[in-house]
Amino acid sequence: MPLPASATPQTPVPAHGEHAARAGSSARAPGRCWALVPCAGVGERAGAALPKQYADVAGEPILRHTLRALAALPQLQGTLVVLSPHDEHFEARVPQHAFDRRWLARVGGATRAASVAAGLAALRERGAEDLDWVLVHDAARCLLQPAWVQRLIDAVADDAVGGLLALPVADTVKCEEGSARVEQTIPRDRLWLAQTPQMFRLALLQRALAQAGAQVTDEASAVEALGLRPLLVPGAWENLKITWPADFALAERLLATR
Ligand code: CTP
Ligand code: MG
Repeated sequence: MPLPASATPQTPVPAHGEHAARAGSSARAPGRCWALVPCAGVGERAGAALPKQYADVAGEPILRHTLRALAALPQLQGTLVVLSPHDEHFEARVPQHAFDRRWLARVGGATRAASVAAGLAALRERGAEDLDWVLVHDAARCLLQPAWVQRLIDAVADDAVGGLLALPVADTVKCEEGSARVEQTIPRDRLWLAQTPQMFRLALLQRALAQAGAQVTDEASAVEALGLRPLLVPGAWENLKITWPADFALAERLLATR
């Protein structure tokens, strides 16, 4: 299947004048870019001895791989890592001097959305403004390549809404009835798998998360709930999120081939 250039041919413009600065201009919109890495999960499904972001893959904690990829993007003002207030591993596993332009905020919440919302407030304290772009990236997607982030920035920088890396679904999709027996097959032609980074302007994302509540599992779904249509930007199969025990060995093999 050829990749659609865009799944949002008629993107509505956000409310509240969040993009007023862009009206009538074809020039690149103002606004700096920041990265925000939610890193306050416990990694229950991964079953590691410590939160998965601190488990080693190819000789280094997952989080270090992730931060290295983001540090390679000079157009990012900086990266804010959101830790749990109870985090006991960061300093030992990711030394402070490891990367430039990186800040910590021990403001993680009970859900990913709560961690991101708290991180956005912390970014404002560090100078981020309404129209600045925030690229939210899962700590657990440690195979990130700077070129994929660049593709997202290039595709979204002039967009009225924002967007995310995602992949068109390749397999036939089944929905179970609740007991691992198929209830129905879902047509896959318009289905995509959401990845990260997800890139939205700070004010829009804060408003979206405040209205969507703590249960949304990505930023785009909060923005969608406002009636907006984020841009789907082709990601990469390798941009997997370490989730299950078998993912560690897979990530290790993929890193070994680079
Ligand atoms: N995350 C977070 N705060 C939470 C939950 C998750 O910052 N309360 C972060 C995780 O650290 C991870 C990213 O969000 O980098 C994606 O979440 P997920 O893969 O679900 O990680 P966990 O929630 O840690 O894993 P699990 O759901 O298996 O417990
Ligand atoms: Mg989780």
